[in-house]
Amino acid sequence: MSDNKFVKKIACIGAGYVGGPTMTVIANFCPDYQVTVLDISQERIDQWNSNELPIFEPGLKERVLKARGQNLFFSTDIDRCIDEADIIFVAVNTPTKTFGEGAGKAVDLQYIEQTARRIKENSKSDKIIVEKSTIPVRAAETLGKILHSGNNSIHFEILSNPEFMAEGTGIHDMENPDRILIGSMDTPSGQAARDELIKIYERWVTPENLITTNLWSSELSKLVSNAFLAQRISSINSISGLCEVTEADVDEVARAVGKDSRIGPKFLRAGVGFGGSCFRKDILNLVYLCEHFGLQPVADFWGQVIIMNDYQMERFVQRMLKAMFNSVVDKKIALFGFAFKPDTGDTRDSPAIYISKMLLKERARLCITDPHALKNAQKDLEGVEGEIVYEPDPYKAAEGAHAIALMTEWDQYKTLDYKRIFESMEKPAFLFDGRNHLDHQALFDLGFNVHSIGKPDRIQFDDPS
Ligand code: UDX
Ligand code: ADP
Repeated sequence: MSDNKFVKKIACIGAGYVGGPTMTVIANFCPDYQVTVLDISQERIDQWNSNELPIFEPGLKERVLKARGQNLFFSTDIDRCIDEADIIFVAVNTPTKTFGEGAGKAVDLQYIEQTARRIKENSKSDKIIVEKSTIPVRAAETLGKILHSGNNSIHFEILSNPEFMAEGTGIHDMENPDRILIGSMDTPSGQAARDELIKIYERWVTPENLITTNLWSSELSKLVSNAFLAQRISSINSISGLCEVTEADVDEVARAVGKDSRIGPKFLRAGVGFGGSCFRKDILNLVYLCEHFGLQPVADFWGQVIIMNDYQMERFVQRMLKAMFNSVVDKKIALFGFAFKPDTGDTRDSPAIYISKMLLKERARLCITDPHALKNAQKDLEGVEGEIVYEPDPYKAAEGAHAIALMTEWDQYKTLDYKRIFESMEKPAFLFDGRNHLDHQALFDLGFNVHSIGKPDRIQFDDPS
């Protein structure tokens, strides 16, 4: 590889759900930039260099294959690549702290700090450092302190460039973003760094969608965007409980409410609860920040979004129990879907994890099916007591089951032969649609007892007494 055929060298530390796809899109649009994605995990890098990419994301593989070996590289040679890079994106994981001060709420910044120290140790020239990972507001200050500690000769300019892509539509979101947000210091070097990043994005993003702000606004906007999205889901989920007892239909309510252009129709789909690596973590982070700054009512307000989400999952299991004569002991339950949403194999914080654990505690026997998430499901439930079978074929998963609980709205679940499924199940056959995804009337007509979210139950053998 000739070094000088590239105008700039980009390194990205962290080859996960954020780093891998974002760098692939940048490499596709900027063939004159060398883009190297780095990770401490040799296994992960080997997967990125193979035909079995470590993550499933529609459109990703084609784009990786187009650029890999041309201007896109995956490597564990972190120190050398840091040294050679002009621009370094930081996309390491920022999980919720599980220990010590702020446990269960604050972000665990150890991976960010390790990365900052490694950048400092291996840099021999000035660099632009771009925060891609979601981090607490003012994290750039900490990053700057570490990078500049005991080092007066090399200048690191820190930018915040949060990623707003959603999994499953990640490539589309990155190629057609609502906005690209770049936060920088309001200094000549801050503005120059910001302009370098703009040069990359303007290859495919229109100027009106390139938003620039100060560093702290950019960091905070990411947390607030996710909090607002999650809050909408908890709002409609809270109403779903009320619908179930008043014979209102939550989908009709959402449609009527969302028609108001001030409210809008998106993110009003009631379901079993939100999952994914961001919403819970980012709200907890926001709650922690508010508490830290003495804004307790603000912390309580956002904390309620999580309380409502947990309640929605518990309520779903309670309804299952009640419908199935108050016991699921030794009953086979087929879980349709385990991913936190369709078109991804990701199961992080998936409602299916919590619901599986609750059902296993009630001593149900679980058979879990999912087109892309079975490996992750197995890891998530490792060591959990009870009978769990992982079955790629939904027909086999439903065989002999007392109930199906739909956790993820995979497209293919709409077109299954439910007559065949019904015939293979124990009777009465229950279907709990946790995503309001299926044709409930058609299922009822086949003989299922159908329970969905925020809609009246459809029960075959209603006791008239
Ligand atoms: C989210 C944000 O959308 C994205 O901008 C950010 O960068 C990362 O976090 P993601 O977690 O990938 O993206 O998925 P998203 O589509 O937001 O869905 C999150 C969860 O909310 C899923 O479990 C989904 O099923 C649920 N959801 C979403 C609902 O229950 N109802 C809705 O109306 C929308
Ligand atoms: P995200 O969803 O934020 O992308 P992931 O967990 O999918 O999170 O990916 C984060 C990646 O960062 C992982 O592959 C992990 O191995 C990597 N990582 C964590 N710490 C470091 C580090 N200090 N140096 C390099 N890579 C790291």
